[in-house]
Amino acid sequence: MADVLGVVGAGNMGSGIAQKMASEGFNVVLVDLDDEKVARGVASIRKTLAEGVERRIFKPADAEAIQARIRGTTDWERLHATDCVVEAVFEDLRVKQEVFARLSSVCRPDTLLATNTSSFAVGDLASVAKNPERVLGLHYFYHPAKNRLVEVVPTTLTDASAVKRAWLLQERMGKTPIQSADQPGFVVNRYFVPWLNEAVRLLEDGVADIPTVEAACKKTFGVGMGPFELMNVTGIPIALHAATTLGEAFGPFYAPAPRLRAQVATGNLWPLDGEPDAALFDEVADRMWAVVFMVAAALVDQEVGSVEDVDIGARVGLRWPRGPFESMNRMGVEKARELVRMLAGGWGMVVPAILRDHANENRSFAFRLVRSKVESGIATLTVDRPDAMNALNETVVTQLTRQFRAAEEDPDVRGIVIAGTGKAFIAGADIRFFVDNIERGDMERIVSFTRAGHDLLHMIDACEKPVVARMHGLALGGGLELALACDRIVATPKAALAFPETGIGIYPGLGGTQRAPRRVGPGLAKWLIYTGQMLSAEEAKAIGLVDAVVPFEELDTAVVEAMRAGKADRPPLSGKHAALEAFFARHPVDELLEGAPPGEEEPIAKASARVKQKAPIALRLAERLIDLSESTPLEDGLAEELRHLVEIFSTEDAKLGLSTVGKRAPSFAGR
Ligand SMILES: NC(=O)c1ccc[n+]([C@@H]2O[C@H](COP(=O)([O-])OP(=O)(O)OC[C@H]3O[C@@H](n4cnc5c(N)ncnc54)[C@H](O)[C@@H]3O)[C@@H](O)[C@H]2O)c1
Repeated sequence: MADVLGVVGAGNMGSGIAQKMASEGFNVVLVDLDDEKVARGVASIRKTLAEGVERRIFKPADAEAIQARIRGTTDWERLHATDCVVEAVFEDLRVKQEVFARLSSVCRPDTLLATNTSSFAVGDLASVAKNPERVLGLHYFYHPAKNRLVEVVPTTLTDASAVKRAWLLQERMGKTPIQSADQPGFVVNRYFVPWLNEAVRLLEDGVADIPTVEAACKKTFGVGMGPFELMNVTGIPIALHAATTLGEAFGPFYAPAPRLRAQVATGNLWPLDGEPDAALFDEVADRMWAVVFMVAAALVDQEVGSVEDVDIGARVGLRWPRGPFESMNRMGVEKARELVRMLAGGWGMVVPAILRDHANENRSFAFRLVRSKVESGIATLTVDRPDAMNALNETVVTQLTRQFRAAEEDPDVRGIVIAGTGKAFIAGADIRFFVDNIERGDMERIVSFTRAGHDLLHMIDACEKPVVARMHGLALGGGLELALACDRIVATPKAALAFPETGIGIYPGLGGTQRAPRRVGPGLAKWLIYTGQMLSAEEAKAIGLVDAVVPFEELDTAVVEAMRAGKADRPPLSGKHAALEAFFARHPVDELLEGAPPGEEEPIAKASARVKQKAPIALRLAERLIDLSESTPLEDGLAEELRHLVEIFSTEDAKLGLSTVGKRAPSFAGR
């Protein structure tokens, strides 16, 4: 895929979408009606980037480079060079149809044509385009350079290959895509707009006043703004318009509350002041949840979106801590069903089948966190937790194990690929899981999770079919250990690899102390594990930690080629890496903890200084285990690694290190 994308409409959404594309390295053609509107769009990007520089999200030079990749223009012919154009003009069907007709004549026949419409059927735009099989919806959320969610909306005419291209493009742009059928409100607005509307109904019905609804929603949904404040910020007329569209499509339950229409007529914002009445919180919460649960379940019944996508939409798009289905599991599906039954009854509706059946069978909702597909004899298992950077948890390990076994036993599968969705390969294991279990004193659960991880990695390692790690983005800790159990690792330049464990009080416990030295030698394994040094894909290749580095667009081909190659020999080391290897092989941890030996120069002085910031007990155990790897068979080394698990997780350092991840650098006491 070449690297030029287009955006038509340089308003609020279009300029943000263009900014996001450019910040991920694409060149962007940004079209609007006249020079003034183009200039306004370009200026608003400049302003957002300047804010980013102020908040230290970008360096000034990066912001300049991003801006330089955006070409604002009124010349539609420039769109001929693009692979994908996103339309973000006024929400007016006639205007949008004209845009699609014009795009059909200026763009190549294979250019993806996408609309960011919020309320029209994507099919109504595809119908005026030439080659409608490449037309689809890409529904971004405000602010599109910051909110990662995008709904990918195929029409009945869209080609599967176009959907795949659009999906991969969103992942390359750092977006979290979910799929939606071409239905009003798509996935997220279908439950979010009724959530806003229900807040107004609570007011209308005299159940609670605005401050009470606000406070109850903030508490129950874990959000920073309640529904009324959100409407004030994003526009009350927009909420009215969205509810009107849904009401026309799906009936009176979705139609706007009369009080909402009345508020728009006044032109005023909702008044938020006043004392909340905590005695009403439960009643408010039950009504608000009921709306979300009913619509979420209906979305799945009607095949608009999947259970997983409904929840990702809430977490990523709305920044709710949990999605509707996870919330139903926490509340208990039977209680959720009761709330929905009461709500639905009032509107002459019924409880959606998926919720009814789960409640009848007293079953929680299950989430598919690993996708598996077999194509041309290759099984690809993709960990699909994009908003958790595909971190390993109990469900992921269970599902990966089951699907790996199925692929291994499938006579039609000749090779297996392990991948991650979106921007990460696999960013370690779920830290929260460890913290929760340490706090509960449940070491057994940590051990059984780790043991299950070992079994999975052993199965990968021992598999007779070639197994390749398809590494794009972060591969940290357990993610890197999983990759090391594969025969080959093929990475993109965006891969980044590290063992951060000793910096959080533990050692790599999924085979890292055994497989890393076997792959890069004990000296370099010690360097990586003692320092937590993050390696770029190129540097990882230079020391033999990964086998190949290819651009993202060549990744899938390179992965298949890697299956044919045997295990690679270790490459000859550069001066720097040879020096690091010799240094770390020579100096025991206790010596390094006393301070860098005098007289050493960069990069050794810096690396040895980093060791002092790590957890001493973890370092010493890592040292013993790596040393052991030289003299013991793999299986014995792995067993020894597991044997020290309770010891390391019981230290004060582990408790401190794991609970401060992402907050501050811990200062370890060595206890
Ligand atoms: N604002 C949101 O929160 C949001 C969220 C998701 C989707 N959307 C959708 O995104 C689209 C754009 O919304 P917005 O808020 O950015 O609107 P906006 O009014 O800020 O921007 C629209 C831009 O399109 C330009 N334009 C209009 N007709 C054009 C034409 N024929 N050719 C080229 N440019 C043209 C306008 O000059 C303007 O700059 C709408 O379809 C809207 O429903 C908006």
